[in-house]
Amino acid sequence: MVTKNKKLLAWVDEQAKLCQPDGIYWCDGTDAEFDRICAELVANGTFIKLNPAKRPNSYLARSDASDVARVEDRTFICSEKQEDAGPTNNWIAPAEMRTKLKNLFTGCMRGRTMYVVPFSMGPLGSPISHIGVQLTDSPYVVASMKVMTRMGRAPRDLLGENGDFVPCMHSVGAPLKPGEKDVAWPSNPVDKYIVHFPEDHSIVSYGSGYGGNALLGKKCFSLRIASLMGKEQGWLAEHMLILGVEDPQGEKTYVAAAFPSACGKTNFSMLVPPDGFDGWKVSTIGDDIAWIKPRPDGTFRAINPEYGFFGVAPGTSIHSNPNAVAMLGRDVVFTNCALTDDGDVWWEGLSETPPTHLIDWQGKDWTPASNTKAAHPNSRFAVLARACPSFDPVADDPEGVPISAFIFGGRLSKTFPLVYEAFNWQNGVYAAATMGSEATAAAVGQAAIRRDPFAMLPFCGYNMADYWNHWLNIKNKVTKLPRIYRVNWFRKDEAGKFMWPGFGQNMRVLKWIVDRVHGRATSAVESAFGYMPHYEDLNWKGLDFSKDKFLKIMHIDQKEAAAEADAQGEYFQIFGSRLPAAMEEERKNLKQRLQPAETAE
Ligand code: GTP
Ligand code: SPV
Ligand code: MN
Repeated sequence: MVTKNKKLLAWVDEQAKLCQPDGIYWCDGTDAEFDRICAELVANGTFIKLNPAKRPNSYLARSDASDVARVEDRTFICSEKQEDAGPTNNWIAPAEMRTKLKNLFTGCMRGRTMYVVPFSMGPLGSPISHIGVQLTDSPYVVASMKVMTRMGRAPRDLLGENGDFVPCMHSVGAPLKPGEKDVAWPSNPVDKYIVHFPEDHSIVSYGSGYGGNALLGKKCFSLRIASLMGKEQGWLAEHMLILGVEDPQGEKTYVAAAFPSACGKTNFSMLVPPDGFDGWKVSTIGDDIAWIKPRPDGTFRAINPEYGFFGVAPGTSIHSNPNAVAMLGRDVVFTNCALTDDGDVWWEGLSETPPTHLIDWQGKDWTPASNTKAAHPNSRFAVLARACPSFDPVADDPEGVPISAFIFGGRLSKTFPLVYEAFNWQNGVYAAATMGSEATAAAVGQAAIRRDPFAMLPFCGYNMADYWNHWLNIKNKVTKLPRIYRVNWFRKDEAGKFMWPGFGQNMRVLKWIVDRVHGRATSAVESAFGYMPHYEDLNWKGLDFSKDKFLKIMHIDQKEAAAEADAQGEYFQIFGSRLPAAMEEERKNLKQRLQPAETAE
């Protein structure tokens, strides 16, 4: 008997009847199972085994060109009432969606195996963790789940007879005819549906094999469904990295930071302190998602629900992220990177001069003269978190880590300074709620610039205005309230160049934040947006960054800021009466502070 859990047995049975797979396979999560599945993927052409002398135990997968990123326009929150999904989510009535899905799933696994993948998001048995079970017909997804979650027999056994789990149903939507080879991606672009049912906390995904659409423990469970659970149960599920900072005296501080997709979370989470920071250490707990619960000690304690990193490859180099380069040395599943002639991977930014010949992410010959990217801009790696040299073993602590600061940052080429601290909690929630960011390759078809509140626009499982309200209220559940910061690594000068060196140099900003939360660096500049550091408050040792440059990157242009406040007002209107009054109050206060000095009261 694989399990005594009645809900699980009944659900697997019901889904198997619907999908009609050739067989059902219960994953045990062992390394032997992983190796076997990878060997099958090599045999059917989904995986290319990389040169073991260059990159031991590593694989490259190339997806269909139509299946390379999250598909936000195919992602749905199917609550009974549309207003519970809110104006920022796609909505279809649950009954209508269930009928649609039933048709799509009927017989969709013919000729294939249905894998049962029990997984724990977070350390097994932690009071902050939760369990899910994914059913999938994609062995690529199974292999990826082994890297990204605590998967297999242990979480299955933890369920016992009556334990509850989030059901995550997945199919790539490509039934096989007799004799056809298995595929990880639908070979023709099929209709994709990434669907969440808030009322019963369930997930159904059809037609994509890609990351956030298909590894359902990640965005679908850990953010969309978990954010909803958080609202119902009094905690937070956030698109945040978690890192620890240790100063030379051994004082350790944990912070969580939300940046939109492809805006620097992985990089920030494993930053290497630059010259001028002797004795400082940064350790990595998570790079994408944080589950945060108010705990009896009066703090918000956070865990990383994931077990691996699913990171952006392009731009990763020994200069930008040496820890990532080290962790990618072996045991990695790469997707949509380029292949070198000696059986290794390459992507834009890995080395200054590209190899003279590559096979690009679509399997075609590529040379530096080709007018295309060799690796897809959203090409990714999946690797165990503990492979990272800066991995902090505290990530396995079921109690989580106490958070001292929340940091929010978009990709904004103008208007927003390098860093500021919100005046208070309510003002910080407003700063996070109004965050904007410029388009990246992490999702198909993004607008050039958009509001991305809390970096949660594509991931909030309910009405965004209710989510802000939840953030406003949760303050009362702790006695040690973290401070809130906004940062912007991406401001550009007139020539269109980044003004800030970024990456490891972000340590200088991080140290100021750490100083502030411990009651140091008390004399800040009070700007319209919030408290900002004086030039002298940042440690500049080892970096040539003049006071002039600093004043430029910290400058708040009154006209630009006032236009921003007006645009926020328009944005707020889409939430109608659900908008918390505190948001509009903060916006009016900002406008007031932005009045030219002579007319200010
Ligand atoms: P997701 O996995 O999609 O959530 O992305 P992420 O937020 O983890 O972003 P990641 O750290 O992978 O960085 C995305 C891109 O931004 C990469 O190409 C990085 O090289 C670049 N990047 C990261 N940090 C910085 C920075 O401080 N400055 C600049 N200019 N670029 C950065
Ligand atoms: C993101 O887009 O924020 C990611 C990649 O981390 S995905 O898993 O596809 O969502
Ligand atoms: Mn992410």
